[in-house]
Amino acid sequence: MLCSNLNDNIMNYESFYKYSLEQPEDFWREQASRIDWYEKPQVVLGKDENGYPLWFPDGTLNMCYLTIDKHIADGHGNDIALIYDSPVTQTVKKYTFNEVKTEVAKLAGGLQALGFGKGDTAIIYMPMIPQTAFAMLACARIGVIHSVVFGGFAPHELAVRIDDCKPKVIITASSGIEIDRLIAYKPLVDEAIEVAEYKPEKVIVLNRKLGARVPFKKYDVDYGALVYGSEEADCVPVESHHPLYILYTSGTTGKPKGIVRDTGGYATALLFSMKYIYDSAPGETFWAASDMGWAVGHSYILYGPLLNRNSTVIFEGKPVRTPDASTFWRVIADHKVRVMFTAPTAIRAIKKEDPDGLLIKNYDLTCLKYQFLAGERCDVPTLEWYRSHIPVPVIDHWWQTESGWPMLANQMGLEPLPIKPGSATKPVCGYDIRIFNEAGQELPAGEEGLVVIKLPLPPGNMLGLWENEARFKAGYFSKFEGYYLAGDGGYKDTDGYCYITGRVDDVINVAGHRLSTADMEEAVSTHHHVAECAVVGINDELKGQVPFGFVVLKAGDDSPPFKIEHEIVQLVREQIGAVASLRSIVVVQRLPKTRSGKILRKLLRAIVDGETFALPSTIDDEAIIGEIQHALAKYRREQVS
Ligand code: COA
Ligand code: AMP
Repeated sequence: MLCSNLNDNIMNYESFYKYSLEQPEDFWREQASRIDWYEKPQVVLGKDENGYPLWFPDGTLNMCYLTIDKHIADGHGNDIALIYDSPVTQTVKKYTFNEVKTEVAKLAGGLQALGFGKGDTAIIYMPMIPQTAFAMLACARIGVIHSVVFGGFAPHELAVRIDDCKPKVIITASSGIEIDRLIAYKPLVDEAIEVAEYKPEKVIVLNRKLGARVPFKKYDVDYGALVYGSEEADCVPVESHHPLYILYTSGTTGKPKGIVRDTGGYATALLFSMKYIYDSAPGETFWAASDMGWAVGHSYILYGPLLNRNSTVIFEGKPVRTPDASTFWRVIADHKVRVMFTAPTAIRAIKKEDPDGLLIKNYDLTCLKYQFLAGERCDVPTLEWYRSHIPVPVIDHWWQTESGWPMLANQMGLEPLPIKPGSATKPVCGYDIRIFNEAGQELPAGEEGLVVIKLPLPPGNMLGLWENEARFKAGYFSKFEGYYLAGDGGYKDTDGYCYITGRVDDVINVAGHRLSTADMEEAVSTHHHVAECAVVGINDELKGQVPFGFVVLKAGDDSPPFKIEHEIVQLVREQIGAVASLRSIVVVQRLPKTRSGKILRKLLRAIVDGETFALPSTIDDEAIIGEIQHALAKYRREQVS
C-alpha cells in the first residue's frame, strides 16, 4: 500500500522520508495544517533563547480542545472516547466524548476555583482509571502543566519529583490494585509530602471506595465533590511551546530527568504518527496496554488516539493473572481493537503461561490489524511466537520518553516494508538517524556504535529538562555538536534497517520500565553496613533485564550476609518502589575497578550473565574476578537451597 500526502502526491517511504529531511518546514507545515489552531502558526521552525528548535512558535492551540471538544463540534459527541476495562475490579465502562467533556470541564472548573491556572504545575499519582485521563485533560484544558508519576514508585521517588516540579496541587486516588493486592495511594502521597521540602497547597483525592485507608489531611479536597460542585471551564488557548506536561524518566544519576513536552509540536507529531505509523483511522479502537505513568501512556493511551478520534482503552490489569493469560485477547475481541501496542515483556509473560497459544483460540481476533511492540528490543522468539499464533504484522518500533513518539518504525500507514526480525525497521519521517563511533565518525553498515540523530529533531520531541538547561545540554547535545545522543547503541544493515542493541549508559529496562542503576545504588548505599556498591542490569528471560547488586560491607562488620542482602532488597523497595525489582544482592570483598578507581560494571554484568569477556587492561587486580565468581556461585547455591 502506498499513501498520498496532503497534496495528494503519491508517496512511498523513501520519497516521503527524503522530503521530511530535505524540506522539514514544508513537510511539518502540511502536517500542522491537520490541527485546529486558534492562531495558525506563521513560523514553522524557530529557536528558543538557547538556540534550541521551537516548532510553530507563534501558533496557539489547546490540547483538550483538540482531543475532546473538536470532535463534539464535528458531530461526534456520542461516539465512544474511552473504554475503561478493569479485570481487577470486574468493570467495563464506556465514556462518550460528551461525557468526557462534562467531567473534564467540571474538574478544570474546580481546579480554577481552587486558584490554579495556566503555568502552574500539578502532579497526578493515580492508577489506570478514567479519572487519570480526566485529570490530565482537565490540566491541559486550563494550561496547568501536569506531571504523572507512575504508581509503582514509592513516596521517596514521589517526593523527589515534588521537589523538582513544585506542584501546587496533587491529584490522586484512594487506591490502585496490583493483581489481588490493594495499594493504598493516599498514605503514600501524605508520606511523600512529609518528606519533600516543597509543600503542595491541595491534594485532590478520588475515593474509589475499594476499602483502602484514606487518612484525612487538611490539604485534602474530595474529587467527587469538586467535580459535582464546579462550573465547566472553557479551553484556554496556549502558545505552541507551552509545556503540556513534565514526565520524569531515569537518567544516569540518582535524580530523574523531567522531560518537558510542548503542545503544538506534540499534537502535530502525534496526529502524524496515528496516520502514518499506526495506520489508524478515526472511529476505530486503539489500545496501548501500558500505564499512564510512562511516555507510551501519555502519547498512545491518551493524547494520540483522542487527537485522532479513536476510542482508546484504559486497561487496569496485567497480561497475566488478571485473571489469566487470555485477558489481552478478551479485551481485543470485546472492544474490537484494531491496533494494539504493548511491550515485548507482556507477550513473554503470556507465552510463559500459555506456550501453545491455546487460550488465543477462544477469541475472535479478526478485528486486529497490527501488533506494535516497544519499550525494549523485541527478541526474535517473542516475535515469532506471536506471528505463529496471530497472523498480523508484529511491528517492533523504537522510541524514548525524550522523543514522545517513535523514531524508528515500519510506517504502516505510509508503505509497509518487509519485517526483519530483530530490527525496528527504518527511521521515521523527520528523524535523520546515524551511527557514530566515540570520535563522532559515522560508521558503515554492520558496525555497531552510538545512535545519534541530526538536529533539528522533528516536532513532538522534548522541549528541555524542567528547569535544568545545563543537564539538558550536557546529557544530550554536548558529545557531538549538532546531534542528539540517544543513549542507545545500535547498527544499520546494508538496506538501511536499524537494530537497537541496548543502552550504553547506566539506564536499564526492566519489564518495559526504564530505571536507573545509579538511583538504586544511591538507595543501596543508605544501608548502614554498606561501604560500597554497584548495581548492574543482567539478562532476564521474562523482564528483559533485572537489576543485580554487589555490595562491599564496612570493615569489621560480622552481620550474616543473607540478613544484609534481605534488608537491602527491602530498602530499595521502600525507597524506589516495588517496580525496581531488585531481588538479588551479593556480598563481595571488593569490587573490580580500573586503576583510576572506576567500577567495571560491564565486567560485573558479563560475569553474572555468564558471558565470555576480555579482561580490561585497566583492571587494578585480576585476582578479583575469581573472588566475584566464587561469591556469586555461593549466592546461587544458597538461593537454590
Ligand atoms: N503500583 C504499585 N505497584 C506496582 C505497580 C503500580 N502501578 N506496577 C508494578 N508494581 C509492582 C508489582 O506489583 C510488582 O510487585 P511485587 O514485587 O510485589 O510482585 C513489582 O512492582 C514489579 O512489577 P513488574 O515489573 O510489572 O512485574 P510483575 O511480575 O508484576 O509483571 C509483567 C510482569 C511483564 C506482566 C508486567 O511488568 C507487564 O505487564 N509489563 C508491561 C510493561 C509495559 O507495558 N511497559 C510500558 C512500556 S510500553
Ligand atoms: P522509555 O524512555 O521509558 O520509553 O525508554 C526508552 C528506552 O527503551 C530506549 O532508550 C531503549 O533503550 C529502550 N527501547 C524502547 N523501545 C525499544 C525498541 N523497540 N528496541 C530496543 N530498545 C527499545
